[in-house]
Amino acid sequence: ENAMGNNIVWHKCSVEKIDRQELLNQRGCVIWITGLSGSGKSTVACALTRALHARGKLTYVLDGDNVRHGLNCDLTFKPEDRAENIRRIGEVAKLFADAGVICIASAISPYRKDRDACRSIFPEGDFIEVFMDIPLSVCEARDPKGLYKLARAGKIKGFTGIDDPYEAPLNSEIVLQQVGQVCPPPEAMADKVISYLEAKG
Ligand code: PPS
Repeated sequence: ENAMGNNIVWHKCSVEKIDRQELLNQRGCVIWITGLSGSGKSTVACALTRALHARGKLTYVLDGDNVRHGLNCDLTFKPEDRAENIRRIGEVAKLFADAGVICIASAISPYRKDRDACRSIFPEGDFIEVFMDIPLSVCEARDPKGLYKLARAGKIKGFTGIDDPYEAPLNSEIVLQQVGQVCPPPEAMADKVISYLEAKG
């Protein structure tokens, strides 16, 4: 059911996802990177797009922060708006995947139900969740945009990890973590994702 009721039909074309994938010699999918602000989502997304591009794969990065400047500029950080942010990013990622592109989406996506709703619109295996499992203390110490400081001072309300929850994934396909106290370089993290993709063909 949509805003128009059910009076719309899906128009099918003779060039389909499978044809575009064959042309590109790759499988369209979304790699969904979730994690706290400052956990390194965008950095890993960039390293991943670079590494895949170098292997001749067509990729596109959809970054929550960037998308909020355009497509999602009407959305705040209240829960309903975060849900809508994630829904729209998911739908756009689905279009990219349908185009045959490997779409790398990075957004905090703090609520499990929003991520799972997103997963549910993709065919099995086409939604690959990557959890940036970096402790809050590390993200806060990095504080690249100074936002944790503002959140601690009460100048930003509802900041993820401070006074708004981050619901860690329970079953993500890939978990990227520190080794001991050391965070591996983004290229090494990207390699881990690529190994997973290779193993899945
Ligand atoms: S969400 O929760 O998925 O809708 O968030 P996202 O679109 O990824 O945007 C996260 C970036 O927005 C900045 N920001 C906030 N983050 C969390 N909570 C609050 N209240 C907030 N206000 C602004 C912050 O810079 C996030 O940056 P990243 O890129 O995640 O480090």
